[in-house]
Formats: sequence, C-alpha cells, structure tokens
Amino acid sequence: MEFSAKTTLPEKQRSDCIVLGIFENQKMSSAAESVDTLCEGYLKNILRTGDMEGKLGQILLLHHVPNVTAERVLLIGCGSERELADKAFRDIIRKMISRILQTGAIEAACYLVELPVKNRDVHWKVRQIVQMTIEAFYRFDQFKSQKEKVRQNLKRMALGIPSKKEIREAERAITEGQAIANGIAFAKDLGNLPPNICTPSYLAKEAEKLAKSFPSLSAAILDEKQIAALKMGALLSVGQGSKNPPRLITLEYRGRKDKQKPIVLVGKGITFDTGGNSLKPPIAMIGMKYDMCGGAAVLATLRAAAELELPLNIIGVIASAENMPGNSATRPEDIITSMSGLTIEILNTDAEGRLVLCDALTYSERFDPEIVIDVATLTSAIILALGSQASGLFSNYPPLAKELFNAGMTSGDRCWEMPLWDEYQESLNSNFADVANVANPPEVGSVLAACFLSRFTKKFKWAHLDIAGVATRSSGKERGATGRPVALLVQYLLDYLPAAS
Ligand code: BES
Ligand code: MN
Ligand code: ZN
Repeated sequence: MEFSAKTTLPEKQRSDCIVLGIFENQKMSSAAESVDTLCEGYLKNILRTGDMEGKLGQILLLHHVPNVTAERVLLIGCGSERELADKAFRDIIRKMISRILQTGAIEAACYLVELPVKNRDVHWKVRQIVQMTIEAFYRFDQFKSQKEKVRQNLKRMALGIPSKKEIREAERAITEGQAIANGIAFAKDLGNLPPNICTPSYLAKEAEKLAKSFPSLSAAILDEKQIAALKMGALLSVGQGSKNPPRLITLEYRGRKDKQKPIVLVGKGITFDTGGNSLKPPIAMIGMKYDMCGGAAVLATLRAAAELELPLNIIGVIASAENMPGNSATRPEDIITSMSGLTIEILNTDAEGRLVLCDALTYSERFDPEIVIDVATLTSAIILALGSQASGLFSNYPPLAKELFNAGMTSGDRCWEMPLWDEYQESLNSNFADVANVANPPEVGSVLAACFLSRFTKKFKWAHLDIAGVATRSSGKERGATGRPVALLVQYLLDYLPAAS
C-alpha cells in the first residue's frame, strides 16, 4: 500500500473512490460540502431521501456523481460532530476500509482527516488511518493449501489534508504508521506460527534475520551451555524438560553514536506452555503457542525502531524456552538458583514466565539501562481483571508508569496500572528458599507475579506489562495474535525522543 498526503480539494481529486464524511442530522463535512457544490446539490438531494442520515458507521456508495471525475463517492456516517472521539473515529475508518475493499477501486482519496476528533491532531488521525488500512490486509494463510481468495485491489490511498502547513506532519505520520503496522504484522506472524515450528531456536533465527536486514540491528544468541555458564538457573529449569533447548536472544539497536544509556525491552518467549509437570488441562493449553508474544513484540518494536531510524539506543532481551512435562522436567518443590543468586522454590511449574524473566532481568543489568520494560503473557488473572482492553501495568518508578499509560492512550493500545505494594510481597515467602514462585494457596495472580519480578529489578527503573489479555483474540474470524503491545511500545519510544535528545 502506498499513502500520500495532499491538499488537493476533493472536487479536483481524480480517484477511483472519494471518501466523505456526513454527520448526524445529515450535516455535511466541509469536503462533502465542496463536492456537493460541484455536483450542484446532488449529495444534498440524496441525503434528503433519508438513505444516509449520518449515523455513526452508516455507509452509502454512489457511482457517477454528476461533474465528479471520480468513479465512486463513498459517504460515511460520522455520528455527532461534537462527540467525535477516538473510538468513533476508529469505527468510521474500519467501516471505510472494509467497504472500499469490497469494490474494484485501486486508489482511494480519503477526506476524513478533517473530521474534528476530540483532542486529536492531523498527525494522530493520519497515523490511525495508515495503521488500520495496512492491518486490514493482514492474512496468515501460509499453512492453508487452498488460500481464501481475497480481493486486494486497493493499492494507493491519498489522504486529504486541510492545510499545506500540516503536510509534513502528515507525511511523518504516514512513515510512522507504516513502520508500526509492519512491526505489528511481524509480531502477529511469529505469534500465529505453530509451536512445532516456532521454537526457541526459530525465534533466535528470526532475530538474526532482522539483524541482517537492518544494519542498525545486531543479534547475539546464547545457547543452553552459555546460559548455564551465566548461571541462569531459572531459565534453564523451565527449558530442561524439552528437546527444544532454551535460547537467550539479544537484539541490539544502535540509533546513536554517543554512549546514551539504552532502553532495555525484555520479552517472555515461551514457545509453548504445557504447564510443565504442573500440567495444564487440555482446554487451558489451547492458546499456549502464543506464550512467546511478549518476545515477538520486543523483536517487532526493535524492527519498527530500526525502520524509523529512531535516535535512541534500545536493547531487546528475549528469554525463550519450551515448558514441557516429563522425566527431565522440573518438579514442583524443586529449589533452583537464579542468576541473581536468589534461590527459588518452584511450587508450580506453570508459573514459568516469571522464572525465565527473572534471569533475563538480572542479565539486563549489564547494559547499564536507563529504563527496563518487560512484556509477557504472564497471568490468566490479568484477563479476569482487565479483559482484552488493556495490558496490566506495574512499575517501581511512577513517572515511567505515567509515560506508558499516556503512550497507551495515544496509540489506543492501552495499559492500566496495578499495585505493587509491599504488603503483597509476604505471600511469596518460602520456608525453604529465598522466594517461592507462587503463593500457596494461590491468590491475586497478576500482582504476585509482578511482585516476584520486582525482587529482581531493584537496580533500575522498571515497568512490567502483563499482556495475557491483549496479545490474542480467542474467537471469531480474527482469532489469532493481535500484535499488541507493539503500538504502545513504539509510541513510548516516540514520546521518549524529546527527552533523549
Ligand atoms: N502463560 C500463562 C499465562 C496465560 C494464561 C497467558 C492464559 C494467556 C492465557 C502462564 O505461564 C501461566 O500459566 N500462569 C498461571 C500462573 C499460576 C500457575 C500461578 C496462571 O495465570 O494461571
Ligand atoms: Mn504457565
Ligand atoms: Zn506461560
């Protein structure tokens, strides 16, 4: 898909399909007004028939509108002009894309950037349109012998920009939107791959492939021997039941020549989570191929940063393993020693995410990080708490939590802060080791998982994103990985830029 930002007036626009907004009570947007003038009231007459009232999401496709050179004019209901906010705008854009894709139009000219979305500027609107349009083309059909035939006529979209002085902003938004959408597609692909293909060493190869295609990226892979040499007993204990051995993947992005301290992104990369010897029941095991989505999001975010050439230093660390049961797998009540030296009593081998993460977090210390953010499909409890609307956000540094929250609101890839109070910590005390990996009896799952991690993050500013509820959609045609929270993380990096320069 190609996007362009133009100040061309809609009545002058040559295109296969011009998209115009109509507000409630048949009020025309200014682009619609000017087309209506050109076609001498043809649109107004149509509104009078009652076929387009301007209700949110309503849609009317017209052909051969008098005096208009474009083949089609697509009218989209935008609801109340005064109440137009993020969600309504996204609903409008989604409607627009799905309707255009049903036509034979190869190029479209969209005049919805002028819609007055509350507190949002041209940059935001353009980026949403670009991101959503590219996402609409996403398919994962590499394992289908009969590919569903989807019409993909649309090749170009021109975005009508209200004024010349906003063109550069709009072009920047197009570039960002494309890089974010490419990152999201990359994360979705990795997430959707079956676990017999996407193993820890497969993830490692993907990191190496990224490093080959972007000179600003470099990858370093540690195998199980090297992981053992680093004394990462927690990561090893999770991987030891599988014939697909663990990998510690480091992908480094150097966007600056100076020695600016890096932002470290840590990802959970469990390529399949059976629960280990604390075996999951069959129903709960479905969806556990996505347990590497945190790691995929980290790789994808670095990919986007490299594509955008952000002037930052960023390091991705992915702890990848397969959590299998069996003879050589960890038992409940085993005690292991983590890289930090803290001993861990493993009371439930299904609480493996925090184990691989704690060693990756300790490992992050060597980069002298400015900030560390980990991303993990960590607990089912976060799904009960927040559903699919927001990632759970935990942090030991309030300004960082605020920045992530704000980045979520801007990107639409939201997160919501949860507490990390000391009073919770007691539940993780063990009679036999420094810490237990779960509370016995189980309680406040997501908070305790974060509390466990917090014991390994005392040396830096840290935030944890529990993405178990947002990383996948579990039903419907859209079943599969969502690519979240790539948009949130890239937004965080973009917002971080002014402070870093
Ligand atoms: N990968 C799971 C969390 C998960 C569950 C992600 C459902 C997505 C959907 C994690 O490793 C896990 O098994 N967590 C347990 C922890 C419990 C044993 C303390 C959970 O949340 O049930
Ligand atoms: Mn588990
Ligand atoms: Zn897991």
